[in-house]
Amino acid sequence: GTPASRSAQMVTLTVDGFEVTVPEGTSVMRASAEAGISVPKLCATDSLEAFGSCRLCVVEIEGRRGTPASCTTPVAAGMVVHTQNAKLKKLRRGVMELYISDHPLDCLTCSANGDCELQDMAGAVGLRDVRYEAVETHFEVRKGGEANPAYIPKDDSNPYFTYDPAKCIVCSRCVRACEEVQGTFALTIEGSGFDSRVSAGMVGDDFLSSDCVSCGACVQACPTATLQEKSVIEIGTPERSVITTCAYCGVGCSFKAE
Ligand code: FES
Repeated sequence: GTPASRSAQMVTLTVDGFEVTVPEGTSVMRASAEAGISVPKLCATDSLEAFGSCRLCVVEIEGRRGTPASCTTPVAAGMVVHTQNAKLKKLRRGVMELYISDHPLDCLTCSANGDCELQDMAGAVGLRDVRYEAVETHFEVRKGGEANPAYIPKDDSNPYFTYDPAKCIVCSRCVRACEEVQGTFALTIEGSGFDSRVSAGMVGDDFLSSDCVSCGACVQACPTATLQEKSVIEIGTPERSVITTCAYCGVGCSFKAE
């Protein structure tokens, strides 16, 4: 949602029974956070423009049909929002099951274990077991043992980070960070559905030969182990992190402790 602006009209609404007043144009997700309610999310962040692709943040609004995404729905005066009923919980679990069904189930050996939003959200929506057989698109070897022709290997070309398409949930956070934080347009999403993937520039381009300037904004934005600093893979997850605008000096000129 849009950050509070001083001149904006204020709007009062109710979220799960709590009244909250926020500037006009604020998203329902941000208003919910103001009311102390965190709606599950994967593709939204506090800083990037809302994208509305993951459908995890669905809510019900009295008098409106369907279950809109709270990250892309602006507040309105008198709105009565529900974020936590049985129907919404079931929808979110379904969404998460689909994500997990297309994701390698190697959390225990994954370098993002314990620092993965997909893992966190699976827990948050109460996902205990996966009903779908994992699809094989992202696996190097098929169940029978033969090589998978659709497999796209990890891109190791950048000196600072790796890109592992098998772990990508196509939330577009890296693409938006590249554009909005860095002002570079090195990343795009190509294909659709299960076949969609993040790509560095032209088909067949790797990160090193793309327009990527190694700013690391995409790595910071990634909720999974898809884009990871090589140092994290080698040394483990840092206890604290900084967001820096220059290429991995490690100090962080635009210093922002998380
Ligand atoms: Fe709203 Fe992803 S967080 S659709």
